[in-house]
Amino acid sequence: MRTRPLAACGAVTAVLAGVAIAGVTLATPPAAAAGLPYQDPARPVAERVTDLLGRMTLDEKIGQMTQAERASATAADVTTYRLGSLLSGGGSAPAQNNPAGWADMYDGFQRGAMATPLQIPMMYGIDAVHGDNNVLGSTIFPHNIGLGATRDPALVQQIGRATAEEVTGAGLDWTFAPCLCVARNDRWGRTYESFGEKPEIASAMTTIVTGFQGATLGGPASVLATAKHYIGDGGTTNGTDQGNTQVSEAELRAVHLPPFRAAVERGVGSVMISYSSWNGVKSHGNKYLITDVLKGELGFTGLVVSDWAAIDQLDGQQGFTQAEVVQSINAGLDMIMVPNDWKTFIGYLRAAVQAGQIPMSRIDDANRRILTKKFELGLFEHPYADRSYAATVGSAAHRSLARQAVRQSQVLLKNAGNVLPLAKSGGKLFVAGKSADDIDNQSGGWTLTWQGASGNTVPGTTILQGIRAAVGSGTTVTYQRDGMGVDGSYRAAIAVVGETPYAEGQGDRPGSMSLDSTDLATLSRLRAAGVPVIVVLVSGRPLDVAAELPNWNALLAAWLPGSEGAGVADVLFGDYAPTGTLPVTWMQSASQEPINDGDGKTALFPYGYGLTYSGGPTPTPTPTPTPTPTSPSPSGSGGCRVAWTTNDWGTGFTGNVAVTNTGATILNPWSLQWTFTAGQTVTQGWSARITQTGVTVVATGESWSPSLAPGASVTFGFNATRGASNPRPSSFTLNGTPCAVS
Ligand code: GLC
Repeated sequence: MRTRPLAACGAVTAVLAGVAIAGVTLATPPAAAAGLPYQDPARPVAERVTDLLGRMTLDEKIGQMTQAERASATAADVTTYRLGSLLSGGGSAPAQNNPAGWADMYDGFQRGAMATPLQIPMMYGIDAVHGDNNVLGSTIFPHNIGLGATRDPALVQQIGRATAEEVTGAGLDWTFAPCLCVARNDRWGRTYESFGEKPEIASAMTTIVTGFQGATLGGPASVLATAKHYIGDGGTTNGTDQGNTQVSEAELRAVHLPPFRAAVERGVGSVMISYSSWNGVKSHGNKYLITDVLKGELGFTGLVVSDWAAIDQLDGQQGFTQAEVVQSINAGLDMIMVPNDWKTFIGYLRAAVQAGQIPMSRIDDANRRILTKKFELGLFEHPYADRSYAATVGSAAHRSLARQAVRQSQVLLKNAGNVLPLAKSGGKLFVAGKSADDIDNQSGGWTLTWQGASGNTVPGTTILQGIRAAVGSGTTVTYQRDGMGVDGSYRAAIAVVGETPYAEGQGDRPGSMSLDSTDLATLSRLRAAGVPVIVVLVSGRPLDVAAELPNWNALLAAWLPGSEGAGVADVLFGDYAPTGTLPVTWMQSASQEPINDGDGKTALFPYGYGLTYSGGPTPTPTPTPTPTPTSPSPSGSGGCRVAWTTNDWGTGFTGNVAVTNTGATILNPWSLQWTFTAGQTVTQGWSARITQTGVTVVATGESWSPSLAPGASVTFGFNATRGASNPRPSSFTLNGTPCAVS
């Protein structure tokens, strides 16, 4: 929700009838825009869009499709060139990096937009990917790989809501999140931005879209979300960032498409295209993937935005050409993130339309999509920052939520002799490691700057501070970063080690994935003391630790926990028994990468692994309770409803199934069964475990979500081969009960 100040105040440069009048203070909008149909919020959005579109010049439409970086544009540029959007690249912040400073910056650009004849408000995008991480003082939540370890979609939705409040509090309205990448090779520098190696985790975590946007756009603290990067960014050969995803269409659809389908079903407002290629074709120029599959098959009606200067890569040369503008726009991109050379872009796009290289229908479709989101966000009615949420930035409530997320994301991988949980009182504890007292290490990349950096600039608690706060008065905690001084008098040594921050390709690890020499030296000192060594790994991915593991008494994967390091201490001292399970397979050796569940390779720790303090396997986490259905099934007996849709392609097809338990009892596990009659054969499944024996197909819940409550539904999908025909199964049974089919 945005608020309009009592009067649009502040000196602006007004462009009225083509005449620039500097220094004019506008108390009311230019007469040209007042009271027109598109300005009437009582009218349907589609009608407002059509009215506005009909009033726009080509240059105004081109401006809407242009997204410039804040440092390369002024409010006057927004007015003169009709810029539709600005962004902050990672770390690009106003001089005053606090909520008020950001909101003032936003309002300055917005006044530039509101000074145009049609007063089309601009949108401002930012990478709020684990909290509003560019804004100093924001709550920094665990990166996605840790959230994947929670297997708690409801928790992740709450995190999206809290983040949206903090983004709104800083005056902004669009986040380039969530990354729905499915990381298949942990060498990839963006593995930590992924929820895990299987599509069903990312699909489940699209709840964060609802957190960001609200049930519908335009409600309180509603922020436009972005499903990114479409498609296959996590599947490149060797895990090379922006590389080539060399997979069949069946695998692309089975592994990388489902999270985007789920996000579209949730109403995500924008999709960002991936730098990567699919079988050698750059996704930014792939009309089949963008227009036919994303917009056509999935029915995506939001806006498609490019990645940062990504169209420059289409011809493999530096910079971009008119031809690349033509290819990307005709492929289906609606807005181009052209951070610096946006004036050149505007010139090329105008020339391309005038030369007939891009049809006006494509320009109008792009504008319809962009304007629809601006109307739905309420920006026409409330274009300026809603400062009422400023107090939520870094609030105690948000930090408490982040600390709970840290607790639930911890994965206990080894606990010899049940050395954990540690007693809080008695004796001496030794803490070491480069990430024990380094809040920026524990936050990782995309924190205040693009790459992140070691240090203590983020407000919050380090893991060491959490340990000190957890122990009783009778316990002394000694901290020595390099482990010097440890001896046998300590009851245990805790080493917090791992990776220092990185982002994108700078985090690719084509070679070693081992601990660095600093960590190995620290660990050897602790081991030499002969005391129990507990390793806390702060990293964006699994590391190659098999050789050192026998020397450790315990290993806790902390991932990149963010600002609330005390959540790690909560697990170390048993205030929270670990419930996290691996969202990615943990290699025995880097040479095994890519290594994923079901590929037949022997992992050090398999996908889904995690211990708790009873010593047995981690109990299925009790996810944050979701409201029980208010209208229990009318029938007293079991019941079922199935929605079956398919999309035929080549010699195969994709099936999407929604099954609802209309009975009165919880089904645990649920099991849906059907028969194929025309030679159809399932090849891959997602969001459920699907097996076929002969013509009989059985689908059951994921190991971490096996049940189906009364009134609840689950959607899953699969790829299959087929013959010439593809008849729908004649019947379905859910745990033996016949289903109604739609
Ligand atoms: C980056 C990333 C993308 C981000 C964009 C804007 O290169 O690939 O995830 O949203 O640029 O910062």
